[in-house]
Amino acid sequence: MTNKISSSNPNSAKNEYPPTIHFDILTLFPEMFAGVFDATIIGRARQAGQVEIVLRNIRDYAPGKHRVTDDTPYGGGGGMIMKPEPIFNAVEAILGITVPDEGYRPLLEQGYPPIILLTPQGRLLKQAVARELAAYTRLILICGRYEGVDERVREHLVTHEISIGDYVLSGGEIAAMVVVDVLTRLIPGVLGDAEATTKDSHSAGLLEHPHYTRPAEYRNYSVPDILVSGHHAKVREWQRRQSLARTLARRPDLLPSAELSETDRKYLTSLGYEAATE
Ligand code: ADE
Repeated sequence: MTNKISSSNPNSAKNEYPPTIHFDILTLFPEMFAGVFDATIIGRARQAGQVEIVLRNIRDYAPGKHRVTDDTPYGGGGGMIMKPEPIFNAVEAILGITVPDEGYRPLLEQGYPPIILLTPQGRLLKQAVARELAAYTRLILICGRYEGVDERVREHLVTHEISIGDYVLSGGEIAAMVVVDVLTRLIPGVLGDAEATTKDSHSAGLLEHPHYTRPAEYRNYSVPDILVSGHHAKVREWQRRQSLARTLARRPDLLPSAELSETDRKYLTSLGYEAATE
């Protein structure tokens, strides 16, 4: 078992991500992760040692013969709540520490890894949040199930709460897969050059332009002439304009924080966009 303690550089400059990230994923359903973590980019990154993923079954850390991980809520109400002991035990065993009475948070400041709870109540996962998290070399992810997790886990153990969107999943597992995928793509060298270019347009804060491939004519549907013209500068201009128009039509909320040139602004204005003035 790896027991790396130093985990951080949360303030590392943009694009200076560590060469590897180690994820410990605490879950009651480790079998859910096969497939997603074995195929394509994540699978390749694991093979190359750029990402390490250790699945930890929370049940293995539950005390007692029956290894109970959940119980009914105080105050009544439906559903089951995940008990605190197995989750605290798991973190302590993984890191070889005892969580102090004042809680885990001070340990984060000493370089211990962030402990992330996946929950619909968390901070929304956006590319900028992913960039912050990808500055750590080790992360512990806790997948909640049932009606929730005992509040003492959130209060005294968890350092970050992340939501992948405003909807309720059956548990944190799928959200944890999303976090691992998004962060893995940020590790230097995980994406080939061609893929990395695509990623760049996202990090510029705009939606991507449309893509086409052969054949140029399909069922009377044709590829835009400009793309088959071979005129590279014109193609780039077309792609940029498509990206801007699409972002304006579908996600105008992204425009105020996008990186825009004067030419971009003029084009957006011609489409009716009025940038907020300070
Ligand atoms: N668990 C349940 N729903 C979730 C969501 N939207 N994001 C993260 N974890 C969750």
